[in-house]
Amino acid sequence: MSIQKHDRRNFIKLGCAGASILIAWPLFQSCANENKNSDPLRLNPDFKPDLDIKLTAVEREISILEGRKTMCWTFKSELILGDSSSLQQIPDSYLGPIIKVNKGQKIRIRFQNELPQESIVHWHGMHVPEQYDGHPTDIISNGQTYVYEYEVMNRAGTYWFHPHPHGNTGEQVYNGLAGLLLVSDKEEENLNLPTGEFDLPVVIQDRTLDDNNQLVYLDGGRMDRMMGFLGDKIFLNGRPEQELSLKAGCNYRLRFLNGSNSRIYKLAWDNGEPLKVIGIDGSILEQPKVMPYVMLAPAKRIDIWLDLKNKKQGDEIELKSLAFESGMMGGMMNGGMMNGNNTRLPLGSEYSLFKIKMNESGSNDFLLPENLVPYNKLDPTTAVNRNNPREFNFFMQGMQWTINGRTWEPTEVAKEETVKLDTTEIWQLSNKGGKMMGDGGMMGRGNEGGGMGNMMQMPHPIHIHQVQFNILEYDTSEMDAMFWNSIKDGFIDEGWQDTVLLMPGMKIKIIMRFSDFKGLFVYHCHNLEHEDMGMMRNFKIE
Ligand code: C2O
Ligand code: CU
Ligand code: CU
Repeated sequence: MSIQKHDRRNFIKLGCAGASILIAWPLFQSCANENKNSDPLRLNPDFKPDLDIKLTAVEREISILEGRKTMCWTFKSELILGDSSSLQQIPDSYLGPIIKVNKGQKIRIRFQNELPQESIVHWHGMHVPEQYDGHPTDIISNGQTYVYEYEVMNRAGTYWFHPHPHGNTGEQVYNGLAGLLLVSDKEEENLNLPTGEFDLPVVIQDRTLDDNNQLVYLDGGRMDRMMGFLGDKIFLNGRPEQELSLKAGCNYRLRFLNGSNSRIYKLAWDNGEPLKVIGIDGSILEQPKVMPYVMLAPAKRIDIWLDLKNKKQGDEIELKSLAFESGMMGGMMNGGMMNGNNTRLPLGSEYSLFKIKMNESGSNDFLLPENLVPYNKLDPTTAVNRNNPREFNFFMQGMQWTINGRTWEPTEVAKEETVKLDTTEIWQLSNKGGKMMGDGGMMGRGNEGGGMGNMMQMPHPIHIHQVQFNILEYDTSEMDAMFWNSIKDGFIDEGWQDTVLLMPGMKIKIIMRFSDFKGLFVYHCHNLEHEDMGMMRNFKIE
């Protein structure tokens, strides 16, 4: 795979050389744009970074539980150049680091792979050139270094990074490889939102450890893969202690990331107070959104405003995941097989995530502004396919999760997956029924479901690389009412997002604009076991 990609790189390089000889200016310009550094395995001496970080994926033993240490895979980081506050480690955790950047900054990340597997890092939610997106064909082997050099073009928001090698993403993330990338910009600065100790990461993951304190992954075999792996213990910021110590009398900004492989949370405070959402994925909202609970799918981020002004020292609040119907259907799946995954925390059950303990009190003067950052939602009438959205159906076929009946091919891209640079498009994502076995014609692509078609359906958190999109519509008309009622107040359609939770039977219309960079990017289900099984495809911007 990496050889193919190398060929592509060389091809582009030759293309540029040719263009410069001909001095065909427009050609040369677009070429230079696409390919600023022709070899990501080397530093570009002409690139002058504001921040230069070395990120090394290593195997390391970490003390997680009492007794024996846990073998994890983790990013070791080192600041080569830049402000020391831009890089923050999380002590005694497999998670991190937290990288803080500003829009407009130039960043260089030297990713070195010291794992016993091939890997590549992807910047989830970031708008970067093709060669810095962490495409699965860009994997490097143990001992190699991949250099990312790009300008931060994204809005203020909570982004993250994780490995993206096809087939092993689930394992690598599960073993510990993930970190937050926080982007700030001028608009955010003007809001005077909480900073420093009042701006906190809240990364939620589920993990299973065995009697020797070692991480257990996919012990349920094929069924775990098909359903997605569920751990039986909730981890907070890469630690098993489900406790956050905050100061009574203060206001906080909590940056939630669901860093779990497949688990979906229905977040709510136990005291019945609503959640105040101020940001989602790649954006700060226009106004705080007050919600009884939030459905947080894998890979999604929300920024929560937490007001502890009226609390006193010694107070406690708890964050829970409330019970919900996952909407999963499946003939033979309904029996014991559905629980082939031997977790003690079934999806959709109610459990505690963590407690906030106010062991101290203090004060700060961060106030929640009534208006945050205005967003100019893309206008559907400007879409080139306004009357004819591109359709992507996510379903099971032949015991395999597919997108429009197709699965992952490293460099393949279908006609319906090819879009034009500088256009706006509407995509319709649908979670339809599939069938269990073979392709005996019981159900083809685009079948509306029903009958055998519904044999197996699961939630799919759908993620598109490269872009931040707006949500135009959630169509739930084909969902079971009881199932929809258990989750319906937990969805957010405002802001710029890069991942949507597509529940069984749901259709979602999104709108996005393809700008600045041509190339091959991926879109996929962010249930990492589904992704690794092949529920991922390329799309091409040309
Ligand atoms: Cu967070 Cu393609 O991934
Ligand atoms: Cu991504
Ligand atoms: Cu999926």
